[in-house]
Amino acid sequence: MTAGRATHGARHVAIIMDGNGRWAKKRHLPRAMGHQRGVEAVRNLVRAAREMGLEALTLYAFSTENWRRPEDEISALMGLLKRYIIADIDEFVANDVRLRIIGDHSALPADVVALLDDALARTAGNDGTTLVIALNYGAQDEIARAATKAAAKGPITPATIEAELDTAGLPPLDLLIRTSGEVRLSNFLLWQAAYAEMWFTDVLWPDFTPDHLRDALAAFGQRERRYGGR
Ligand code: IPE
Ligand code: IPE
Ligand code: MG
Repeated sequence: MTAGRATHGARHVAIIMDGNGRWAKKRHLPRAMGHQRGVEAVRNLVRAAREMGLEALTLYAFSTENWRRPEDEISALMGLLKRYIIADIDEFVANDVRLRIIGDHSALPADVVALLDDALARTAGNDGTTLVIALNYGAQDEIARAATKAAAKGPITPATIEAELDTAGLPPLDLLIRTSGEVRLSNFLLWQAAYAEMWFTDVLWPDFTPDHLRDALAAFGQRERRYGGR
């Protein structure tokens, strides 16, 4: 398969994976079940992204604001993250998936940090699809940290800030998807979204399949990107 054709030219897709709680509520299940099914959606999507030759897939997994949730939900999310990495790390290694994290993951529980750091190291040499997981990520925090680093080195310009963002070195963001019917960014990739195309769907995250990604990419392929020119 030709990389690029399947993705309609998109190199970098990011997703605000929203609606796990509503998915569970609709079924009278505990919220944690929604998150668990959300992980299955992630697993299928990462495989599809790799198969279609997408260069980078960025997934919003835990925001700087998600610490406001009840402790039991936070620990359920951390447990699911751990189990996902443990279960899929060998597949990443075997299939040339490179793991990358944006956000300050050092603030996560120590066992999660250790597991993630090991997974980052084990996939560092891979150059297939980059799976970027946003953890304890908030764009305002990212930009503030980047500006601080840029200022220490010299004059602040868009380019010097961009070079210090957590996403430095990734392809430019082409397509930003949000599930669950919400139409807002919730502090995700504010800088990188400057000229990204947006695609919103009412589908709740646990119901999101690779076919939805293909629909979004097909819509992306129809867009005319002008970047302010004419
Ligand atoms: C998204 O689902 C997962 C995270 C934010 C971690 P939600 O838990 O936000 O689900 P809703 O929005 O309450 O349905
Ligand atoms: C955004 O979803 C964060 C993640 C998907 C990780 P939220 O559910 O936290 O966003 P809001 O609160 O509806 O804006
Ligand atoms: Mg939500």
